[in-house]
Amino acid sequence: MATLRLGDTAPDFTAVTSEGTLNFYEYLGDSWGILFSHPADFTPVCTTELGTAAKFKDEFDKRNVKMMALSVDGAASHMEWIKDINETQNTEVNFPIVADVERKVSDLYDMIHPNADDTLTVRSVFIIGPDKKIKLTLTYPASTGRNFYELLRVVDSLQLTANHKVATPANWEHGEKVVVSPSIPTEEAKGIFKKGVEEVKPYLRLTPDPTA
Ligand code: BEZ
Repeated sequence: MATLRLGDTAPDFTAVTSEGTLNFYEYLGDSWGILFSHPADFTPVCTTELGTAAKFKDEFDKRNVKMMALSVDGAASHMEWIKDINETQNTEVNFPIVADVERKVSDLYDMIHPNADDTLTVRSVFIIGPDKKIKLTLTYPASTGRNFYELLRVVDSLQLTANHKVATPANWEHGEKVVVSPSIPTEEAKGIFKKGVEEVKPYLRLTPDPTA
């Protein structure tokens, strides 16, 4: 199993999930995707994460992103645990959870890090573009729940920078100024970005978010 890197093709798979047997590529269709693993069912941090993911589904839908979660627990366990998530987190889990009992998908995506835990998946996140290429990877330890606002923020950046010759600065949020791609000379940038280009340094040019 090779480590997956940015720009690699996300491996396809067919797996049993809490919503039946699904093929990953068919599930994604032309959408963006987030595949994320958690260590185990019936654990506290994971319960809050999956409940939070469910509450964020509308926001991911607006961005044409489909979520799929994963752990090495079985489908029956997922179904029982979903009842707890719904009850305790005040939501309805509304995306499939892969039951990766044989660790096939975990191995494909290198989600088990033996020096952290040799049996359970870590908190991996893969954001996948409509071209099925990996656009972002994140790895968190079991002890740290992920920030789903950050995942939305990254999706906003990835989708903006896929369509415009810009990059997004530190802590950027949708609607804030963005950075003109370094490959574009300032004079050319002034022709492209009609809302204006502010040259702070020859290599640091800002322009209003073209989509705001
Ligand atoms: C949790 O989700 O709370 C958790 C899972 C595995 C290890 C530690 C915490």
